[in-house]
Amino acid sequence: MQDVLQTERLTLRPFRPEDVEAFHAIWGDPEVIWWGANESLAVTREGFERLLARHEAWPPGIGWLAVCPRGEDDILGDILLQPAPFVDGIEIGWHFRRDAWGRGYATEAARAVLQRAFAERVVERLYAIVALQNPRSLRIVEKLGFSAVEDREYAGLPHRLFALDRTAG
Ligand SMILES: CC(C)(COP(=O)(O)OP(=O)(O)OC[C@H]1O[C@@H](n2cnc3c(N)ncnc32)[C@H](O)[C@@H]1OP(=O)(O)O)[C@@H](O)C(=O)NCCC(=O)NCCS
Repeated sequence: MQDVLQTERLTLRPFRPEDVEAFHAIWGDPEVIWWGANESLAVTREGFERLLARHEAWPPGIGWLAVCPRGEDDILGDILLQPAPFVDGIEIGWHFRRDAWGRGYATEAARAVLQRAFAERVVERLYAIVALQNPRSLRIVEKLGFSAVEDREYAGLPHRLFALDRTAG
């Protein structure tokens, strides 16, 4: 579970049950969740409830944050810190509403999350797992200073595993 974070343009806060429709606007959009969106709000609702329940169980500093314009409550996207799927560690990820792309929000929000995770010694290393067909995310990990570790097939697609160490910056 994570506390609220502020950046120059953004507020990052934990998700709440009433955010389900805003969450669906991201996770129900096949252009955003291009590898398998939950287009039904009912399916999203179930997944969202499981996500909120998992939040309660995660250690301090790990979890998903809703990203809103600073001081507002309109959800633009999410940044997550969660156990990585095929390496022993924590991965960072991002998903933004289609109309919020291209303004640097994902990079600004992710930078704040990883800086806090390192400053509070939540992790010593963060991973990012990015599909090679995802140029926007590849650019974000580059801007954040991640280094490539290896390429491997994941979920049926070629992916690149990236890592960033606390001591790197
Ligand atoms: C990936 C995503 C979060 C990026 O959001 P965003 O707010 O547009 O990201 P940013 O603006 O911070 O950075 C995107 C960078 O990619 C660049 N970019 C955009 N389109 C690009 C393209 N087609 N090819 C290469 N780079 C591209 C942008 O110019 C920007 O880099 P810059 O700052 O050097 O100009 C958003 O596109 C998204 O939600 N995608 C779907 C979900 C997803 O794929 N999540 C990642 C799963 S690993």
